[in-house]
Amino acid sequence: MIIAKKWLIVGLLSLSLMSCKKTPEIILTPLEEKLASMSLDEKLGQMIQAERYAVTTATINELNLGSILSGGGSHPTPNTVEAWLALTTKMNNAAKNGSAGLPLIYGVDAVHGHNNVEGLVLFPHNSALGATHDEELLERIGKAVGVQLRATGISWNFAPCLAVVQDIRWGRAYEGFSEEPNLVASLGSAYIKGLQSEGIMATAKHYLADGGTDFDSSKNSYPIDQGNVSLTEAEIRALHLVPYIKAIQDAKVKSIMVSFSSINNQKMHGSTYWITTILKEELKFDGIVISDWEAIHQLPGSLIYQVSSAINAGVDMLMEPNKYKDVLAVMKRAVENGTIKMERIDDAVMRILKVKDDLKLSTGLASATIDMENDKALAREAVAKSQVLLKNEGVLPLAKNTDILLIGPGIDNVGYQAGGWSFSWQGEKGNEHFPNATTLLEAFTAIAQANGAHIYTQLKDASKADVVVMVLTENPYAEGIGDTKTLSLTSGLAHPDNAETIRQAKLIKKPIVTLLMSGRPLIVEDEIEYWDAFVMSWLFGTEAQGVTDVLYGDVNFSGTLSFTWPKISEANTTSSMNPDRNADDIQFEIGSGLTY
Ligand code: GLC
Repeated sequence: MIIAKKWLIVGLLSLSLMSCKKTPEIILTPLEEKLASMSLDEKLGQMIQAERYAVTTATINELNLGSILSGGGSHPTPNTVEAWLALTTKMNNAAKNGSAGLPLIYGVDAVHGHNNVEGLVLFPHNSALGATHDEELLERIGKAVGVQLRATGISWNFAPCLAVVQDIRWGRAYEGFSEEPNLVASLGSAYIKGLQSEGIMATAKHYLADGGTDFDSSKNSYPIDQGNVSLTEAEIRALHLVPYIKAIQDAKVKSIMVSFSSINNQKMHGSTYWITTILKEELKFDGIVISDWEAIHQLPGSLIYQVSSAINAGVDMLMEPNKYKDVLAVMKRAVENGTIKMERIDDAVMRILKVKDDLKLSTGLASATIDMENDKALAREAVAKSQVLLKNEGVLPLAKNTDILLIGPGIDNVGYQAGGWSFSWQGEKGNEHFPNATTLLEAFTAIAQANGAHIYTQLKDASKADVVVMVLTENPYAEGIGDTKTLSLTSGLAHPDNAETIRQAKLIKKPIVTLLMSGRPLIVEDEIEYWDAFVMSWLFGTEAQGVTDVLYGDVNFSGTLSFTWPKISEANTTSSMNPDRNADDIQFEIGSGLTY
C-alpha cells in the first residue's frame, strides 16, 4: 500500500508541475524576426553581390540583391564623387524598396585610397607602407580612405590585403605589407580599425595563404597568382593565419574574402575545414565570408555543385558580377533538394543582416566631405616615411640650389607612380586621369625654382647639371598580369626604357642618385656600384613631394625594408621566413634602411 501511495503522490506532483510550467515564450531579436519574415527568394537575394555594370535598379529591387560592387575601374560617367554618390544612392533606394526592404551594401577595392574615383589622393601601395612600420599612420590612412568612401555612399572596402608575401615575383606583391606575418598583422589591423571607425566594412583578404603559393614554372602566364600552397597546417598557421587572428580578435574585421588559391591542391573556396572549422568555429569569426570574383566557378563540377560546395564550405555571400541570375536559380534548387540546408542559408543571411545592422545602413550612411588638403598632407607624410635609403655616398641630402638632370621613364608619370588599381584595374600610363596629382618633375621643379636652381630633363643639358637623378620604374600591373619569371631591372615587368636610361647615366660622369619606383624589389646587383645613392621609392601614389622632402633633407629617411631584397629572381628562396635561404642571394636584408 505504501508503494501505491508514493506513486500516487509522484503522479499528483508531476501533474501539478505540468499545469504550472508554461511553454516558455520564445523572444526573437529584431534581426531574428526579420529573418523569420523573409521568403527563401529574399534570403538568397541577400547572398548575392552583382557588378554595377550588370544590373539595373529594377533587378536590384526584384531580386532583393544584398550587395553591388564596382570591380577595378568600374565607375559611373562622369567619374566624379557626385556621380558616384548619385549611383550608390539610386541603387540603395532600389534595394530598400524591394520586398525584403533591406539596404544595399556597396563594395569597391579602395586599396590605396578610393582609387576608382578620378582626382582623389592615392596613397602609397602596401609594400611601401610596410616600410613605414607605422601602425598609427595606417590607422589614419584607414580613416581618410573611410571618409573618401563615405562621400561616395560606399560602405564596403575589399581591403586590406593580408597576404604574407613569400615570392615577390607575384603580381600582387605590392598589395602586401611584408613577408613577415607579425608586421602584416599589426599594419593590417591598424588599417581595419581606421576604416571601420568611419562606418566602413573592411575586408581581410585573401583567405588563406594567398601570398604563399608555389612558383609554377610550367605556366606561361600566372605562374604564381591563384596557385597552390604546399605547406603543412602548422606552417600555414605560423606564416599565413597570424594576420587573420589579429584582424578578427583585435580589429573585429567584419568581412573576409576567400582566396582563389589552393592549399595542398584543394581550392580555398571549397574548404569547409579552413572556412568553417577554423575561421568560424575556432577563431569565432562572426562577420561575412565573401567569395572572390567568380572564383566558385573554378571549383569542380557543374554550377549547382560549385555553388553548393562554396555555400556549404561556409561562404556567406557570392561575388557573382555577371552570372548572378543563374547562381540564384541553382542555389534555390540546391536548397529545395536539400543539398544546401536551410540552417546554412539562415546562418549566412543572419550574418549579412547583422553586418548591415552594425553599419547602421538602414538609417543611411552618414554623409562625408572629402578633405583633399588633409589627404594630400597625410599621403605626403606616408610617402616620405616609406622611402628607403639603401645607399648614400655623400650625395644626399641634395642642396636646394643643386642643378639636376632628371631622367628616366618615371620622372613625369603619375601612372607609374601609382601602379595598378589606379583609375583602372591595371593602372594607367600617363597623367591624364590624375588631375590633382604631383609628379616627381613638378616636385623637383618647385624646389629648384624657389632656390635659383634648374631641373634639366634632356641629355643635351647634362653638362649644366651637378647631379643626375635617374628614376627607374615598372609598368603598371595588377593581379596575375603582374606575375613575372624575372626580377630583372631591364626585362619582365620592368619599364623597357630602364636599360637605356641606366646606360646613358653612366656616360655623364656625374654623381648619380637612383630612385626605383616599383611595387617590389628588382635585381640591382650589377648596377648599384655605379650609383652614388639609391632610394627605393615604391609605388608612392599621387604625392611626389613626399619623395623630395627626404631627398632634400626636409624630412629624414625612416623607412626600412619589409621585404628581403634578392640578388636572384627565385625570390621565394630568399624570404627571411625561409630557414634555408642562402646569404649570397641577398642584396639587402629585411629591415635595411639608412638615415641621414
Ligand atoms: C579581384 C581580386 C580581389 C578583388 C575582387 C573585386 O579578382 O582578386 O582582390 O577584391 O576581384 O574587384
